[in-house]
Amino acid sequence: MPILQPDQIYQLLRNLTSPVVAITSERGGKRNGMIADSAVRASIVPAIPRVSVYVHKFNYSHDLIFETGRYVLHLLRDDQFELIHRLGFTSGRARDKLAGVPHRAGTLGVPVLDDCYAHFECRVANVMDTGSSTCFLGTSWPWVTAPRSPEWNGDDGRPLPRKHAGRVAGEYEALLRARRPTPRSGSRDIRPVVWRGLHALE
Ligand SMILES: Cc1cc2nc3c(=O)[nH]c(=O)nc-3n(C[C@H](O)[C@H](O)[C@H](O)COP(=O)(O)O)c2cc1C
Repeated sequence: MPILQPDQIYQLLRNLTSPVVAITSERGGKRNGMIADSAVRASIVPAIPRVSVYVHKFNYSHDLIFETGRYVLHLLRDDQFELIHRLGFTSGRARDKLAGVPHRAGTLGVPVLDDCYAHFECRVANVMDTGSSTCFLGTSWPWVTAPRSPEWNGDDGRPLPRKHAGRVAGEYEALLRARRPTPRSGSRDIRPVVWRGLHALE
C-alpha cells in the first residue's frame, strides 16, 4: 500500500467534522461569536449534557473562553449561511461581529443568539491543550433550549447538517491554510493544563 502524503491525509481528516455551530463568548462587556465544525456530544448521561469543541488559539474567542470558562454553543438551522459568513471569516478583535445580530445575554452573561435551532449555555468543565488549539469540555445543564412540543424528540432533521456545511468548507480551508501554525511553533507544543475549578464541579 502506498504511504499517503500529508495533504492527502489532511483530506481524509476533513471527513471528521461536526455540524457547523456558532460559539459565543463574553469578557468584561466585550462579546464575540465564531463558527466551529469541531463540536461533539461529550456525555452519555442525559442529566449531565456536555459538549466539547476545539478552538484554535489564534482566534479571539479562544482567549475569551479560556479566561472566563464560559461559552454558548448554538446548533444552527439549515439556512443560516449569512451568519456563518459573518462570524466565521473575520475576527472579533477588530470589530463587534454581533452588532446587528439579534441576541440577548443568557444566564451566564454570554450572548445567546435569538435565531438558532437550539443553544447550550456552557461552563467549562475541563480543557485539553492540543498545541494549536484548546479542546473545551463544557457542561450545559440546565441551560439548554430548543424548539419544544409534546411530540418533539430532538430528531426532526432541522439543525444544519454537515452536507450543507460543505458549501462553506472550501472557503474555510483557504482561511485555515493562511493561518495554520507550523508544526514546530504550534501543534507540537502541547502542555499539561489543569483546569481551574476542576474539583469543584457538581
Ligand atoms: C465552516 C467553518 C468551520 C470552522 N471551524 C472552526 C473550529 O472548529 N475551530 C476554530 O477554532 N475555528 C473554526 N472556524 C474559524 C473561526 O470561526 C474563524 O477563525 C473566526 O473568524 C474566529 O473569530 P474570532 O477571532 O472572533 O474568535 C471555522 C470557520 C468556518 C467557516
